[in-house]
Amino acid sequence: MDLEVLNGLLTPKSVAVVGASATQGKIGHTVVKNLVDSNFAGGVFPINPGEDEILGFKCYKSVLDVDQPIDAAILTVPAKFVPGVVEECGKKGIKGLLIITSGFSEVGLVDLEKDLVKTANSYGMRILGPNIVGILSNSDNFNGSFAPFLPFNGSASLVTQSGALLIGIDAATTMKGIGFDKLISVGNMADVNFADLIEWLDQDKNTSVITLHVEGFREGRRVIDVSRKASKPIIALKAGVSAHGAAAAASHTGSLAGSEKIYQSAFVQAGIIQAEDLDNLFDRTLVLSLQPPLKGDNILIITNGGGVGVLATDAAEKYGIPLKFAPEDVQNDLKKYMPEFGSAKNPVDLTGMAGNEWYHDSVKSSYEHPWVHGMVVLYCETAMTDPLGIAKSIKAAVTESGIKDKPVTVSFIGGERSAAAIRWLVENGVPAYSAPDVALNAMAALWEYELIREDINNVPFEVKNVDRKAAYKVIEGARKEGREALTEIEAKRIFEAYDLPVTKSRIATTEDEALKLAKEIGFPIVMKILSPDILHKSDAGGVKVDINSEDEVRQNFNEILKNVKAYKPDAEILGIVIQEMAPWGTEVILGSVNDSTFGPTAMFGLGGIFVEVLKDVTFKVAPFSLKQAKAMIKEIKAAPILEGVRGEKPKDTDMLAETICKYANMIVDLKDEVAESDANPVLLYEKGNGLKVADARIILKKK
Ligand code: ACO
Repeated sequence: MDLEVLNGLLTPKSVAVVGASATQGKIGHTVVKNLVDSNFAGGVFPINPGEDEILGFKCYKSVLDVDQPIDAAILTVPAKFVPGVVEECGKKGIKGLLIITSGFSEVGLVDLEKDLVKTANSYGMRILGPNIVGILSNSDNFNGSFAPFLPFNGSASLVTQSGALLIGIDAATTMKGIGFDKLISVGNMADVNFADLIEWLDQDKNTSVITLHVEGFREGRRVIDVSRKASKPIIALKAGVSAHGAAAAASHTGSLAGSEKIYQSAFVQAGIIQAEDLDNLFDRTLVLSLQPPLKGDNILIITNGGGVGVLATDAAEKYGIPLKFAPEDVQNDLKKYMPEFGSAKNPVDLTGMAGNEWYHDSVKSSYEHPWVHGMVVLYCETAMTDPLGIAKSIKAAVTESGIKDKPVTVSFIGGERSAAAIRWLVENGVPAYSAPDVALNAMAALWEYELIREDINNVPFEVKNVDRKAAYKVIEGARKEGREALTEIEAKRIFEAYDLPVTKSRIATTEDEALKLAKEIGFPIVMKILSPDILHKSDAGGVKVDINSEDEVRQNFNEILKNVKAYKPDAEILGIVIQEMAPWGTEVILGSVNDSTFGPTAMFGLGGIFVEVLKDVTFKVAPFSLKQAKAMIKEIKAAPILEGVRGEKPKDTDMLAETICKYANMIVDLKDEVAESDANPVLLYEKGNGLKVADARIILKKK
């Protein structure tokens, strides 16, 4: 990261507005006015060949006429003038360009946009946009945009691909009381993209949380890398759930991919917390910017109403932090702050009689207990109590404890007085919400952050016995013949080269050879036709299973040839595959796609109807650790089947996890050659008995 250039772009000390206008209502006028209204203390240089002065600033014909250094230029000239302006800015030695102008790749003018980047980069400049609203920064008193005003002040920084949404969010921050330091519009991301901004915001001293609204990443793998290294929480809302690439993909795995599932996995692998919708993005951003991570899952809920306690209990379970009863000493102590008909279990019900003092004392004593990792305080507005008084009591209890590493979230249900109390709490550093489940969801975000950060430090699994030469020999052979689809035998040879347990397969071209190979492999065997013209071997009568004797080998050899000739007389027949007949096991499937955003990505699921009908599969960007492969196995809905149901013994999921990792290594290693692959079915046996890849497919990239 070129810090100096990005600093110039994102926190400029001086800006030119190229296309500044004296006409009110024009974007070029609004940007200059916003710089004034936000009290920007740096140099402002309006550029417009037809004006001498705009809003009190001397106006220049070109950036080249300005005799002082300029960090950034905000471009508000029509698209046809942009290339010329970029060139001039380069000559001036400007560091960064904020190109507000629309009319580039978003309307199909991809090359025009690429040329802008080329020119800018040749001068060492970086571009934000084009097609952006601009940048807003509270800590720099900088509204370099056409959004109306700086956001409500805080320490989160938002990066969004939607300019309109940025403007909407800007206004909503004040109403919701959720504070942002920066709002950054990335537009078409021709140059500076999410990865650059995550890296830069992570070192920005005024940002404590990085909030992303994502339609699609440009450099998916770099986003994962920089996010993993980031020291601050990152939260993302993914919009635009299209199945890009999937429709064009030929294989089964391709059609199951779809960007949504891959993005979800990539977020987890990157250590990025996810939000469900815009409200959730705000609520989670608030808690992440105000509270420390949750270091354990002992949550204590204190409430004045049983009903909200039940709602909160349900929410705790739903969001992955189920409640436990507090230890006896905590309960005994809590009983001092409630009537006899209260409950000191969890949720702690202080009853509707609870006032400032009970809230204060109960929160303080339990918050200080080492068993409690995090606290959720709920309140329903009663006639005898003052919501603001309760809010102040909660805050006082937390402050007096001196504890800084345990999170607290709050929910107040009530009318205007409760709304004011919520506002007061937020302004005083306590995330407060109007519904109990939201307070629990916020606490869950802090727990997810803790878990996700633990997970990303796992080192990817590495296969030891790779015979890369053998794999490339097979690929070269197919390339020479002009084929992209490898035969089963070829695919299995590559799988074997990556130490994947495939069923033994050989090709026989004569009856005698078939017999010899059958004896070598050992009975029982499977015999299958090998022909590039027969895709559905069983339909052609080209598959025979459970062959146990020499006679059967001879008989089936001839029968298969007869069937296939009848099915497709002109089919080219390369031979008959003699294959080890693995005992039947639970069918699972492994697959891969070379995703356009994240590159080689592995899929896992249960075979048969689970994959065909229910599409019960999961994805991970390859490579990954053994722990992550184990998590993949648990992620599918049908996972309990592998643990053993109806008296069946558990399956060998340890070997399965290792196999998934080896497969992931293979697809990364061969990413420049292989477009898609799958192993279907993989036969999984009981614990200790491993698994076998019964069929394998590889489709090479077109070259
Ligand atoms: N150098 C300096 N000034 C110039 C140059 C130049 N080379 N060429 C033209 N100008 C001046 C013009 O004379 C004009 O000033 P004036 O008002 O004194 O005449 C000014 O630049 C602006 O040019 P106009 O032709 O008036 O263009 P207009 O302001 O109508 O539109 C704009 C320009 C805003 C860049 C437009 O082309 C555009 O792209 N709009 C969309 C922007 C946008 O929405 N971006 C974010 C997308 S996200 C979202 O949807 C919210």
